[in-house]
Amino acid sequence: MIASRILILGCGGYIGSHLLDRVLAIPGVRVTGWDTSSAKIDNHLDHPGFEFHRAHLASPEAIAALEPHIARADVVMNLAAICNPAEYVSHPLRVLHSNLFDTYQVPVLCAQHQKWLIHFSTSEVYGRTIASYLPGNTYDDPDLYELREDSTPLIMGPISNLRWTYASAKQVMERLIHAYHEETGMPYTLVRPLNFFGPRMDYLPGHDGEGTPRVLASFMSALIDGTPMRLVDDGKARRTIVSIEDAVDALMLMLDNPTNAQNQIFNIGNPGNEVTMRELAELMRGIYATITGDDGYRDHPIESVSSLDFYGPGYEDCDRRMPNIENAKIQLGWTPRKNLPDLLRETMTAFHQQYVAQGG
Ligand SMILES: NC(=O)c1ccc[n+]([C@@H]2O[C@H](COP(=O)([O-])OP(=O)(O)OC[C@H]3O[C@@H](n4cnc5c(N)ncnc54)[C@H](O)[C@@H]3O)[C@@H](O)[C@H]2O)c1
Repeated sequence: MIASRILILGCGGYIGSHLLDRVLAIPGVRVTGWDTSSAKIDNHLDHPGFEFHRAHLASPEAIAALEPHIARADVVMNLAAICNPAEYVSHPLRVLHSNLFDTYQVPVLCAQHQKWLIHFSTSEVYGRTIASYLPGNTYDDPDLYELREDSTPLIMGPISNLRWTYASAKQVMERLIHAYHEETGMPYTLVRPLNFFGPRMDYLPGHDGEGTPRVLASFMSALIDGTPMRLVDDGKARRTIVSIEDAVDALMLMLDNPTNAQNQIFNIGNPGNEVTMRELAELMRGIYATITGDDGYRDHPIESVSSLDFYGPGYEDCDRRMPNIENAKIQLGWTPRKNLPDLLRETMTAFHQQYVAQGG
């Protein structure tokens, strides 16, 4: 690995915790991490190669304190964000600030110091597919739904649909970073994750958090707590799921190959693991029956709820997210390996261990 000083913002979150596991295992790498919470990374706090700053990056003081760390880093990885769909509609200002205004100084400082910025964006910048606006919505032609980094248009719904606060903030941040590259030469990489699934994602309400987590933790919470698995708008939305190990492999390949990774945008997802949310719920209850040895889970209740009742007015879903991952294959030699049943079994076993077997 060429980068020996890595600055990770949002290192205490789900992806950050898995990334830390991997980079801190490499001898000689020094990591400086910033987050408001360390609950998922407490095991690393005593690591001699890790320096943790418990701080909320937003105020001018916090950004001033960050600047010397950017100046010293070989690479800056920004994962800090609010990225929970339940908040896009309920707290649109928080979402816009978190994904754009709070950390817009990070690319400014990276440009000043000419540092490589790896920024975590989202596949939601693509918005809805062209196919979804056409009569019949049949997805017959991949050109109308497959997501390509260099050519697919980014299609957001109207302003009144607050769901797009997150995606549009991420899109402006992508454009800001690209503009800094164009005008100053700052090297950058934009990562567009597509549903990374693995242990430690989010929290289970009533156990270690409150609110509505993303779909993996929502379904796990229903299974563990014996409540119905709730499908928004009948669970028709399609997603591709990639294992967190495969995803972190891609990040490690970026760190290993700066020449190929810089000034690129990468979809990081697994096109082979596509499911509707209804299929995902059905698969997960079957796998949970196997994990627990309790066949009753095969019939665990699944109920449909409207997006209006679940999220409130202003929700609109990305219909389908089918990534084209040729760029990651060509530039990084990356191919996701883990199939959906295997990654779900491993992830759900880890959740079961954490929340049931160990009483978390
Ligand atoms: N997990 C996925 O599948 C996925 C999908 C699309 C995009 N992403 C993007 O990847 C990044 C990481 O996602 P994640 O799943 O690990 O989310 P996460 O919520 O688990 O982690 C984000 C972390 O950032 C921290 N944070 C937020 N704002 C901060 C601030 N101003 N100062 C300091 N710390 C701050 C939070 O405390 C949290 O620990 C985000 O930018 C997200 O938008 C993730």
